Amino acid sequence: MNFSIVSIFPEMINNFIALGLVSKAVEKKLINIKVYDLRDFTTDKHRKVDDKPFGGGAGMVMKPEPFFNAINYIKKKMRGRVILFSAYAELLTQKKVKELSNEDHLILICGRYEGVDQRVIDELVDEEISIGDYVLMGGEVAAEVVLESVSRMIYGVVGNPESVKTDSFFYDNQFGFPQYTQPRDYKGLKIPEVLLSGNHKNIAEWRKKNQKRRKI
Ligand SMILES: C[S@@+](CC[C@H](N)C(=O)[O-])C[C@H]1O[C@@H](n2cnc3c(N)ncnc32)[C@H](O)[C@@H]1O
Repeated sequence: MNFSIVSIFPEMINNFIALGLVSKAVEKKLINIKVYDLRDFTTDKHRKVDDKPFGGGAGMVMKPEPFFNAINYIKKKMRGRVILFSAYAELLTQKKVKELSNEDHLILICGRYEGVDQRVIDELVDEEISIGDYVLMGGEVAAEVVLESVSRMIYGVVGNPESVKTDSFFYDNQFGFPQYTQPRDYKGLKIPEVLLSGNHKNIAEWRKKNQKRRKI
């Protein structure tokens, strides 16, 4: 699976992908990540990516030209689904993550400032995604969230594929359960007896009964 990420802070993404299972997945060639500096697609000597909003208002808006240049350049190499991160958009869920993991190529666009010129959204973006009802400084963290959650769905990225299947949200109404490890008795804090029973049916029932889920 291929990811192309467009940002004015490529170092943020490059630092992130240098660590953990994502970096291992790249090494194993299970995923391929290309990070593009939006400023490389400007045509003026100041490499300007933003300007004042028409109609007035606070802050700056990201200019259309660099995005048109960048996305067309990337698409010429390989077609892909273009996702822009926007605070107000549809929230990312595990269902969406699974859906995205079936794509060959995700082109992830990170906004900054007050956001991106609407013409980019109208002409180039297939979908806008939010990672939560709050406002970040930029889309880079959201791109990292998509990168991790989608990579996790790709067979081989997580060492034991079974662990993915028991994760929260993998199936409808499946949530995490309390986990314990050694020691059995930590300064008087004991673990539930059933987990020592070796009875897999009882353990599965106990875990199901004790699933954790926030009140919704
Ligand atoms: C400061 S925010 C812009 C907020 C925008 N003026 C608004 O009212 O929605 C700058 C950029 O950060 C990204 N961003 C901020 N919050 C986000 C969220 N919750 N999910 C995904 N991306 C987000 C978007 O790419 C956005 O264009």
